[in-house]
Amino acid sequence: MSQEQTKSEAKSCPFNPYAPGFDVNPYPAFKELRTHAPISYWDQGHGWIVTRYEDVVTALRDNNRFSPNPADWEFASTLGRAARFPEMEEISSSSLLVLSDADHARVRRLVSPAFTPRAVEWLRPQIQAIVDELLDAAAAKGTVNVVNDIADPIPARAMGSLLKIPKEREVPFQRFTEAVIKSLSPIMLPPEEVEAVRKDMREGLVLLRETIEERRRDPKENDILTTLIQTEEQGDKLSTAELLSLVGALIVGGFETTVHLIGFTMSNILRRPELFAQLKAEPELIKNTLEEVLRHDNFGKLGLTRYSREDVELGGVKIKKGQRLFLMTNSAMHDEAAFPDPETFDVRRNTTATVSFGNGMHFCLGVHLARLEGRITVGTLLERFPDMKLVKPPAFGSHPSLRKLETLEVQLLARS
Ligand code: HEM
Repeated sequence: MSQEQTKSEAKSCPFNPYAPGFDVNPYPAFKELRTHAPISYWDQGHGWIVTRYEDVVTALRDNNRFSPNPADWEFASTLGRAARFPEMEEISSSSLLVLSDADHARVRRLVSPAFTPRAVEWLRPQIQAIVDELLDAAAAKGTVNVVNDIADPIPARAMGSLLKIPKEREVPFQRFTEAVIKSLSPIMLPPEEVEAVRKDMREGLVLLRETIEERRRDPKENDILTTLIQTEEQGDKLSTAELLSLVGALIVGGFETTVHLIGFTMSNILRRPELFAQLKAEPELIKNTLEEVLRHDNFGKLGLTRYSREDVELGGVKIKKGQRLFLMTNSAMHDEAAFPDPETFDVRRNTTATVSFGNGMHFCLGVHLARLEGRITVGTLLERFPDMKLVKPPAFGSHPSLRKLETLEVQLLARS
């Protein structure tokens, strides 16, 4: 008899990301799965939970057999459809995560030069100015919630700088970014807010179209949007629909992730006095601290999603065409087969094998921007407030796919 399991033979999956305590520490549950049921079917989530490093990386690298496009899901026309606002279609139709391989490669080639470490480095003074302004306001308050008062506003404002959104359009642009984020979890949206969110999205789309047209007429120097409009490779250019989808992907990919990178890093530093002292003595370790937090205390709850393009076998399990997989990168980065002593937080660990920014062709486009925002924010916080203290333990809120850090209340104690 074959050793391979199918969905009906697979062990029932004890996975429950909505169980009390999961957000605070999901890692014992993942260890249990890696040990006893590394690929198991989760009925409520209609998908396979994949927990070992090797299987996660295999699926991420194999775009021929595993697609990130929800249209490839067996339930796309029923369960998938309810989850979206029509306005989202406009900014996701050509999104990097749904494009077919050749189109993806083409768009990625055109946009990648705008997101290299050098290309995002020129944003440093602008990000520093945003952080300084937020920290001035925070210092005046004395006690702050790092998530709401500091981390939350950073990505939208950094994105506004990145795209050089004119001053008079900053407020509607920020409303648009909030609406896009809210539309990702329509289940959590109170019915009375739905129309306002859709209106903000429609207005934001008009604003973006106008901004793209203006930039075509009036190109700017050192401007990513101008670079993207002008980038041409062998006569090939990005269309307006592709530019809109790219901005949508930057918002979807770069907002909650960056807020959580900052929140979780500060939470780890404040809960570990020895780490806090070490970083004050050696601030250059902040860089690796961010990577180790993403490995050791990743804020993801449901990992990365893929859909099998054909009947496949992964880790001894038979997966049918169209079935969904949740690739648990958070569990993978605690797999002892890939990381020695994975439960230990080690600020000097070699983190090159981590998959917090993905792996393969969909590897995070915004990785250098995320690192820049994280390093500037955490570095400036530690420099300005070396005596800051946690007021109470961090608290988590509900979120369908993230361990949502809601409050990180800190007394800043600025030195005079
Ligand atoms: C800590 C911060 C961040 C984390 C942990 C993160 C993580 C990821 C991961 C895991 C993927 C791969 C998704 C998959 O394979 O299904 C991804 C893709 C992507 N990320 Fe990020 N990201 C972060 C910040 C950002 C920022 C700041 C931006 C943009 C400004 C961004 C833009 C994107 C885009 C456009 C993709 C799609 C790339 C493609 O499909 O080719 N991300 N990110």
